[in-house]
Amino acid sequence: MTAQTENILEVDNLTVYFGEFAAVKNASFSVRRGETFGIVGESGSGKSTILKAISGLADIAGGRITMGGKELNGARPKASYQDVQLVFQDPYSSLHPRHTIDRALSEPAKIHRLSDVESRVSGLLNDVGLGSMFRYRYPNQLSGGQRQRIAIARSLVLEPSLILLDEPTSALDVSVQAEILNLLKRLKKTRGLSYILVSHDISVISHMCDRIAVMNNGEIVDQVTVEQLRNLEFSSEYSRQLVRSSIEYEQAITGSRETLVSNEYG
Ligand SMILES: Nc1ncnc2c1ncn2[C@@H]1O[C@H](COP(=O)(O)OP(=O)(O)O)[C@@H](O)[C@H]1O
Ligand SMILES: [Mg+2]
Repeated sequence: MTAQTENILEVDNLTVYFGEFAAVKNASFSVRRGETFGIVGESGSGKSTILKAISGLADIAGGRITMGGKELNGARPKASYQDVQLVFQDPYSSLHPRHTIDRALSEPAKIHRLSDVESRVSGLLNDVGLGSMFRYRYPNQLSGGQRQRIAIARSLVLEPSLILLDEPTSALDVSVQAEILNLLKRLKKTRGLSYILVSHDISVISHMCDRIAVMNNGEIVDQVTVEQLRNLEFSSEYSRQLVRSSIEYEQAITGSRETLVSNEYG
């Protein structure tokens, strides 16, 4: 296999500005086909901006993003976004309050002129663990976890190969978080997906990811395997402190949390 087919995505020296402010500076990493690549970092470190640049929601000021060998820079036609989809933290804001679930799921399929919209929608509802009885409900008639299942289903409508998950479980109760993470793991396996997962929760990152980048002030300061993360083997002292303090914090607030998570999908 060549490097291009092994890597689904390559980000080389990516720089993104908001006005004069560089939110992402010379970030480089690649995502291997089939892996979950994690991004951790304090609030404001540039994690979401990287995902936005990949999905075309933020302009690329410098560097290159290549997916499946094709460069994604510059103005992109809508169809080129089909292969990469973004799932946000808050399923309230990502679903239109006056559109039914049916509409939320069938609209992208119709826009892209896919066939069998009807069976796609019912298949997707099943795949995310919701039956057809949810089809004509509105977002406010669903729980937070159910809404996130719909947001995940919608990200799958166009059959992408890469899903960008921006804090996908941060707005949910701990018990529901584990269910959603299990669902994501299952979908990844059955559909052969690759993920980039942004989270500030080290136990989520450590259970979901193969490799992890650590960001600080718009820069990637470390890239490690999940084993290295668990052993606190970083090249920068910043990463070691960040991960260690976040593990200690999680243990302090929820002593049983680590056990719950490892039992459920460990
Ligand atoms: N649309 C925007 N306009 C101006 N500044 C922004 C915008 N989006 C993000 N930023 C700034 O860029 C930095 C990185 O933001 P973000 O990528 O959202 O961080 P993270 O996801 O790691 O919390 C922050 O300082 C944030 O305030
Ligand atoms: Mg963010």
